[in-house]
Amino acid sequence: MSDRFPDGFIFGAATSSYQIEGAVDADGRGESIWDRFCATPGKVVGSESGAVACDHYHRYAQDVEMMAELGLKAYRFSLAWPRILPTGLEAEPLEAGLDFYDRLVDALLEKGITPWATLYHWDMPQVLQDRGGWPARSTVDAFVRFADVASKRLGDRVKHWITHNEPWVVTMLGYLNGEHAPGHKDWGEALAAAHHVLLSHGLAVPVIRENAPGCEVGITLNLCPAWPASGSAADAEASRWFDGWFNRWFLDPVFGRGYPADMLADYRRDGHLPADWDALVQPGDMDAIAVPTDFLGINFYSRGIIRSDKVSEEDNAPRTVFPVEEHTDMDWEVFAPSLTKLLLDLTETYNPPALVITENGAAYATSPGEDGTVPDVKRQAYLQQHIEACRLAITGGAPLIGYFAWSLMDNFEWAFGYAKRFGLVWVDYETQARTPKDSALWYRDVITAHGIP
Ligand code: FCB
Repeated sequence: MSDRFPDGFIFGAATSSYQIEGAVDADGRGESIWDRFCATPGKVVGSESGAVACDHYHRYAQDVEMMAELGLKAYRFSLAWPRILPTGLEAEPLEAGLDFYDRLVDALLEKGITPWATLYHWDMPQVLQDRGGWPARSTVDAFVRFADVASKRLGDRVKHWITHNEPWVVTMLGYLNGEHAPGHKDWGEALAAAHHVLLSHGLAVPVIRENAPGCEVGITLNLCPAWPASGSAADAEASRWFDGWFNRWFLDPVFGRGYPADMLADYRRDGHLPADWDALVQPGDMDAIAVPTDFLGINFYSRGIIRSDKVSEEDNAPRTVFPVEEHTDMDWEVFAPSLTKLLLDLTETYNPPALVITENGAAYATSPGEDGTVPDVKRQAYLQQHIEACRLAITGGAPLIGYFAWSLMDNFEWAFGYAKRFGLVWVDYETQARTPKDSALWYRDVITAHGIP
């Protein structure tokens, strides 16, 4: 049984509040930046939104039953900030919002499923964005207060906390290329936002620890390893930049190395830093960001094959690294060996106390057949390859302690609306019926066997 995972390894599934809860007006929930973004013409495919989504807010009990039937050992979900603090500024939190997460957590624990709570999976109160959003330092205080309120209420039962989901996406898609809420396009805002997201992580960690005795806390980064398309100097240079922008800008400060010097120099040269950068990074900030954590969460989907755009194709060396044929419905390449390499490289470079795959999965269109089953061969293959890649990394010495499939069920895929289906469970959005896909039944067997059966 050498394919078994180490005892105690956690197999779970993940979701996030805005993508599944719906009920955006229920019980006093405030407007989030994603409600506003979805209501802005041209931002989301088909003008769709999370207004109803999977109606999980009303169906959570049934959804927890379903998780138990699938044998999940852990469930990663996020807390909707505007359900708890509708504007982010209230003196008192909204009891109804906290009550919802109370009920969810209790239902999970009753089924023996360990709750992993993420504080920020992108649904900021719109009022905080109106006051500057992540580029404003005041948002750091607002987030730490949210972390305090949430962990005070749930910390007796929730012992696994993730401060932020994917700071790169929050800042670079939200404030640099505008594909995500709030849809801004400004380098200075993006880099100010990145600093404040990281700072809010660092300042929230001790608060969570205080409120949830014995808990484990971390941050989740989405990482995209850079593979140079050839051995040329130009592709090496492009890969350095990509890796610095995407991965190291967040990894280095969290692991106490400060911002990468090469990227700081590049950003300064290119005028990307906010004008007040040197005042914006205050004494003590970098130490706060480097607060020790218990694990690093990693969301992994695909590698990046990086080709320089500084030299022409003819002047560059011929490509030697090519994408494999298989791509998901997001057009993301399926190449699991890069996950093993990523985990081993992280272990070597940063020596993290523990690693957790907090998201991994694939979008593939599937639909129920006549017999009610949902054939799902490609997702199963994707998951199998990546779970195997995790096992190889553990064998090679990576301190990987858990794996969460993205996602428990089909849901609102941000700017892509409902067209991209990442779920282990099929959701019929007309009836809200849930049907486990074949990949979910297979994953149940993985969990039972504690390895690929
Ligand atoms: C990640 C997000 C998650 C989901 C997957 C496909 O970037 O954290 O909400 O959208 O991608």
